[in-house]
Amino acid sequence: MAVTRTFSIIKPDATRRNLTGGVTKLLEEAGLRVVASKRIQLSQEQAEGFYAVHKERPFFNDLVSFMISGPVVVQVLEGEDAVKTNRDVMGATNPADAAEGTIRKTFAESIEANSVHGSDSEENAAIEIAYFFKPEEIVG
Ligand code: CMP
Repeated sequence: MAVTRTFSIIKPDATRRNLTGGVTKLLEEAGLRVVASKRIQLSQEQAEGFYAVHKERPFFNDLVSFMISGPVVVQVLEGEDAVKTNRDVMGATNPADAAEGTIRKTFAESIEANSVHGSDSEENAAIEIAYFFKPEEIVG
């Protein structure tokens, strides 16, 4: 299996509870390497653009409000089959459905305040990485 990259966000519910290290520890223990990372405050426009695919969903406005409610940590993760490895360690979107030991089972508060975002495909990973990082900011 090839070494690939994915994109991750540590969401405001996790940064608020000082869980940046706790989340990152689980990512690293799953075999992922943080090759870029920055803590930022998303603007409304940035959050709306990032989640544009969900624009018609009933939860869109709440999602955007939540994502700008505090700082996030955007990261590029590298590892074997990184998209799947990351999705496995994140666990199900709804923490009530997430498996033991996953990030969302361990830390998430609700389906909205679910501590992490991860790309759902390699194609989207490339788009999402480019949304936040210049190539020279990623050091593998
Ligand atoms: P994320 O991977 O960041 O992508 C979209 C987010 O919408 C998702 O994680 C959830 O946190 C959030 N969300 C809020 N409500 C819902 C819902 N009812 N169904 C799916 N996702 C939801």
